[in-house]
Amino acid sequence: MADINDIKTAFLQELASAGTAADLQQLKVKYLGKKGILTAKLKLLPTIPAEERPVYGKLMNELKMFIEGEIEGKESEIRDAERRSKIASEAIDITLPGKYTKPGKMHPISTVLKEIIDIFVSMGFDTEVGPEVELDYYNFEALNIPKDHPARDMQDTFYISDDVILRTHTSPVQVRTMERKKPPLRFIAPGKVYRCDADVSHTPMFHQVEGVVVDADISFSDLKGVLEIFVHLMFSKDTPVRFRPSFFPFTEPSAEVDIGCILCGGAGCRVCKGTGWLEVLGAGMVNPRVFEMVGYDPERYTGFAFGMGVERITMLKYSIDDIRMYYENDIRFLRQF
Ligand code: PHE
Repeated sequence: MADINDIKTAFLQELASAGTAADLQQLKVKYLGKKGILTAKLKLLPTIPAEERPVYGKLMNELKMFIEGEIEGKESEIRDAERRSKIASEAIDITLPGKYTKPGKMHPISTVLKEIIDIFVSMGFDTEVGPEVELDYYNFEALNIPKDHPARDMQDTFYISDDVILRTHTSPVQVRTMERKKPPLRFIAPGKVYRCDADVSHTPMFHQVEGVVVDADISFSDLKGVLEIFVHLMFSKDTPVRFRPSFFPFTEPSAEVDIGCILCGGAGCRVCKGTGWLEVLGAGMVNPRVFEMVGYDPERYTGFAFGMGVERITMLKYSIDDIRMYYENDIRFLRQF
């Protein structure tokens, strides 16, 4: 009888320190298994005096049921705890602040380039493209730029070989497009151009937008009208526009287009160097020699062309006079746009 109490006490101690399902399994084997403590005791039943046997057997049975019940109870306790901790570990804390990733945005040069394109597209211009690695012929020769012209100087042009260069302006797209298409033509040609030059207002790569209109009756006043509309949409409708005589080998007559200084309103400041005017474009009537080069009849067709620097317009628009800021990729600078 004392045995039974000892077994019970020992079992309860071990049960208290069992923390896992595996511990319980071991306890089960140890007490209830085929070679377990209870089985061994029951085997001794025949050695017990006959009159004590029923009581002993009853107590043993009760102990067995007690142990089974305790193990089962503890088992479900452990299972519950495991389930609770699993749920807790998988829980999503909806009160945590979200992880915020700053969205990227357009580079200011891209924004202005898109604005320029949108304005001309709204006036019915198509867009054309041409190669950045260009033949000397399209960049110079076909544009009536003679061999000894200063624009051909090694200082300005990146040479790939004697007759292959990086285009120094988008004007070769004028020639390539006119070779492919017949008038009437009305297109712009945006893209990258390259010049061996670097200071506060020059980078070796920059962007231009070329524009060309060719038809039977295109006049200088058409050019003025289109560019005035452009300036008024790009800057403001009160921005004055001025055409100044100039020279380009591929236009005749040629003009440089100035706008009233958008910083000082024309009074004169550091940016406009006291003149009240800012140069933004080169333009002119397509030189008949260019028409001849592409096989257009200069007696039948006239046209105008213009070219502008996107960086220059961006710098004026945002009043930032060091072009290098746009290409340093300093996130603090770019975030301001
Ligand atoms: N291609 C000229 C330049 O890069 C600009 C221009 C284009 C002038 C078209 C007249 C006509 O300076």
